[in-house]
Amino acid sequence: MNGQLEALQQEALAALTAAQSLTETEAWYHEYLGRKGRLTAILRSLGQLSKEERPLVGKRANEIKEALEQALKQRQESVAAEEIQRTLAAEAVDVTLPGRRPILGKLHPTNQAMREMVEILKQMGFQVFDSPEVETDDYNFGLLNFPPDHPAREMQDTFFTTRPNVILRTHTSPGQLHAMRKYAPEPIRVILPGKCYRNEDVTARSEMMFYQIEGLAIGHRITFSDLKGTLLNFANQMYGEGRKIRFRKSYFPFTEPSVEVDVDCILCGGAGCRLCKQTGWLEILGAGMVHPVVLKNGGYDPAVFSGFAFGMGIERQAMLKRGVDDIRLFYSNDVRFLARV
Ligand code: PHE
Repeated sequence: MNGQLEALQQEALAALTAAQSLTETEAWYHEYLGRKGRLTAILRSLGQLSKEERPLVGKRANEIKEALEQALKQRQESVAAEEIQRTLAAEAVDVTLPGRRPILGKLHPTNQAMREMVEILKQMGFQVFDSPEVETDDYNFGLLNFPPDHPAREMQDTFFTTRPNVILRTHTSPGQLHAMRKYAPEPIRVILPGKCYRNEDVTARSEMMFYQIEGLAIGHRITFSDLKGTLLNFANQMYGEGRKIRFRKSYFPFTEPSVEVDVDCILCGGAGCRLCKQTGWLEILGAGMVHPVVLKNGGYDPAVFSGFAFGMGIERQAMLKRGVDDIRLFYSNDVRFLARV
């Protein structure tokens, strides 16, 4: 009987060492020490032994029981510790892995260019003046000296509304009248940035909705030289020191004389390339001396006051400066474009 007990103990201890998890030690407990365990069965059968044998075998069986219980406790402790080690290893964080770069928002390319232009002009003493995107026919055309049925109106394909005479402004120039009428007869230096609309076919060069920035200076002895100096300074700050500008005669009903202004090509410096179509020049804006009729409509006496005005497309400046060749990219919400420019 004792030999049987010793063998059981050896077997049990070996099996316990093989148990790799708490679940396996539980199973081991049931196998040997539990209610239906093999050692328990032996202990229960002690009654069948002879009087002489019973105390000896009983004592040994109880010793083995205690030894196994002790061994179980130790094994469970080390298995639990191993399990914690395994979990920690599995959940380990590699602190040397580079983090994921957060996607940051940024200013829209139009707003970047607009702010840059506003900053440059502010330094020259221009103040931002807000004026509406929805205009009357009068402000957009009539007061700006467009005669009724004048073909110049067709230069600008207008979006009309269901209300008579109410239109979406086709340029920022109507803001000139709002500013003049607010401040006349004080001298003014204002810029008017904002959205404009033209009912045009959308192409790489023209959108139905775009931004312009208008400049207007009115005072007692404002001359064409002031316009020239202002625009040269602007071009140098916007497109780089040493830039040249050139004036070409043009026509706008609200300025006289009127000019279109070019800057020497920022890509080739004037030698001729694809960007400037081999001309060496890039058109950046329209400008001129404020027409006497417009001064009068604004509340200034043309005999006493003179002024200059200019207007330019904001996307166009952004395109030239950042090498964008299609204006449609600005409002097609392609994140790759928005992130790059
Ligand atoms: N309003 C003109 C345009 O949209 C630009 C301009 C503004 C020209 C001011 C002269 C003076 O083309």
